[in-house]
Amino acid sequence: MKFFVDTADIDAIRELNDLGMVDGVTTNPSLILKSGRDILEATKEICDLVDGPVSAEVVAIDFDQMLKEGEHLASIADNVCVKVPMTWAGLRVCKLLSDAGTAVNVTLCFSANQALLAAKAGASYVSPFIGRLDDINVDGMDLIRDIREIYDNYDIQTEILAASIRSANHMKEAALIGADVATAPPKVIQDMIKHPLTQAGLDQFVKDAQQAGIRIV
Ligand code: E4P
Repeated sequence: MKFFVDTADIDAIRELNDLGMVDGVTTNPSLILKSGRDILEATKEICDLVDGPVSAEVVAIDFDQMLKEGEHLASIADNVCVKVPMTWAGLRVCKLLSDAGTAVNVTLCFSANQALLAAKAGASYVSPFIGRLDDINVDGMDLIRDIREIYDNYDIQTEILAASIRSANHMKEAALIGADVATAPPKVIQDMIKHPLTQAGLDQFVKDAQQAGIRIV
């Protein structure tokens, strides 16, 4: 499973990128707001830093303006992936940009039928939102499972980009189901390393090494 980082915080992206943990980046208007950055500048900087696709989201909801925004975002760098909402206008823009060779991520996916439509429109990625479904007492992982099964039934190439990931356990579940990508906030990726037995074992080894006077270099 590929790891995308769900943030516009360039320092956080750099830190994980240096560790080889970043296969791509996703942003959205809320993350841009949080970063306090200009979307065009931030997207350019992230694209220069990261090898993989960087999702940058349109803000218009009408077709004409959305297409203009999508084309402009796509012109920033070769690795920009234009993110459009799951609406008919979004799918029209998806079809046009995909046909022109631009990667498109269809976001705000909350049903398997929507994921089928995104694939038909030529999306490179579809983003089912796990956490926001969990928030309304619907198991978000069931949606990932359904999309995986449907895409596999028809050998659909659109990648399932598990989004709205809120915990390290979400990462494990998405990987078990076979999501192609999971996009997660930096803290969730950092939390994946945590295990109390690792910490307890390390504490004991450090103590014993001191008692034994072990010195390696
Ligand atoms: C990423 O592409 C999504 O916009 C993001 O994962 C949404 O996460 P949230 O539901 O925690 O805001």
